[in-house]
Amino acid sequence: MSTPSLLWRELCLFDGLSTLEGPVNLLVADGKVAGLWPSREFPESAALGAIEAGRGGVMTPGLVDCHSHLVYAGNRAGEFEQRLEGVSYAEIAQAGGGILSSVRATRAASEEELVEASLPRLDALLADGVTTLEIKSGYGLSLADELKMLRVARRLGQLRPVRIRTSLLAAHALPPEFAGDSDGYIRLICEAIIPAAAAEGLADAVDVFCEHIGFSPAQCERVFQAAQAHGLAVKAHAEQLSNQGASALTARYRGLSADHIEFLDEAGVQAMAVAGTVAVLLPGAFHTLRETQLPPIELLRQHQVPMAVASDANPGTAPICFPTLNLNLACTLFRLTPREALAGMTAHGARALGLPELGRIAVGATADLCLWDVQQPAELAYAVQPGRLRQRIFNGAITYRKEEAGHAG
Ligand code: NIG
Ligand code: FE
Repeated sequence: MSTPSLLWRELCLFDGLSTLEGPVNLLVADGKVAGLWPSREFPESAALGAIEAGRGGVMTPGLVDCHSHLVYAGNRAGEFEQRLEGVSYAEIAQAGGGILSSVRATRAASEEELVEASLPRLDALLADGVTTLEIKSGYGLSLADELKMLRVARRLGQLRPVRIRTSLLAAHALPPEFAGDSDGYIRLICEAIIPAAAAEGLADAVDVFCEHIGFSPAQCERVFQAAQAHGLAVKAHAEQLSNQGASALTARYRGLSADHIEFLDEAGVQAMAVAGTVAVLLPGAFHTLRETQLPPIELLRQHQVPMAVASDANPGTAPICFPTLNLNLACTLFRLTPREALAGMTAHGARALGLPELGRIAVGATADLCLWDVQQPAELAYAVQPGRLRQRIFNGAITYRKEEAGHAG
């Protein structure tokens, strides 16, 4: 393939971990970052055989949203109202609502209907800079319906310029047909759903919900063993509502990430540090559930556990498809610095997906990039404002330009 090389000048550049000193010029060729120079060196675009693609603005890696439940049918606005009246998330789940209400709607939907329902949410994420997105199953909870969700997730990646990673989250809730037999359902996951998802190449990883309203650590461990037997990486919804030791368990299985982690303790932090398991912070869910227990940010810093920030976009705990709002919430609610938040949705988000070659801007890196109409990177976390993305570059090609998008209204 021979797409033309592209050159941007006078950029303020956040490379995925920090902001470079002084303005730079950036060359992209053949889908990769091919050159980075201080602006004063001014390479001639003609000499480089490159097209001038832009001048000024903040360039960051494309955003990596490493935790979402984007594919589902229906919505749970009614439960939002119930929670405002004082009913808890766990009470709604125990009464057969919550995740199971999305399961009923998702089981009833065809693949086409799920694609149609999910595309507007995906488009909202792309319009705010996402170039890599993880999508979980978990609203099917049967062999056929879990695979259906994963197929829809893969399909979304064919319909839009975005990298999709899928996680099988069959261990999300107990389906009604297994009431009173959670071990039986775990057996189905280990003996039928994981092998089928692996055989069809539909899952990149396996996730679990380890919680008193989800599955026990022992049950999650069985799921991890089955996943690893099929060559799949593991991760967990861990320590969201209580401390179950799920993060340490995930670390023992060299898990990619432990996510939520509001109730994580120091032993868990240490285990993650040793194993290289990423801490995924989900401030959108914390905000929506009006949680009060903060994740142990200072301990994570002390033990140098990489912190990712993700949307958790889902119909229950985080109906939010606005990644830069998640950056803002990570700062305002969890006291991350804007730099940490942005690294959390670029370099560390990529690491949480086992894709360390993404989420960085360096010579040789994949050219998934965002050019923003702001003066400095911190503004992306500071202001809550759609429409700041000027260009979106996916695999070396400009897939969105603000000038061409026209004016809203
Ligand atoms: O990440 N905690 C479990 N899973 C999701 C919520 C799913 C739902 O309520 O539909 C989460 O918060
Ligand atoms: Fe989640």
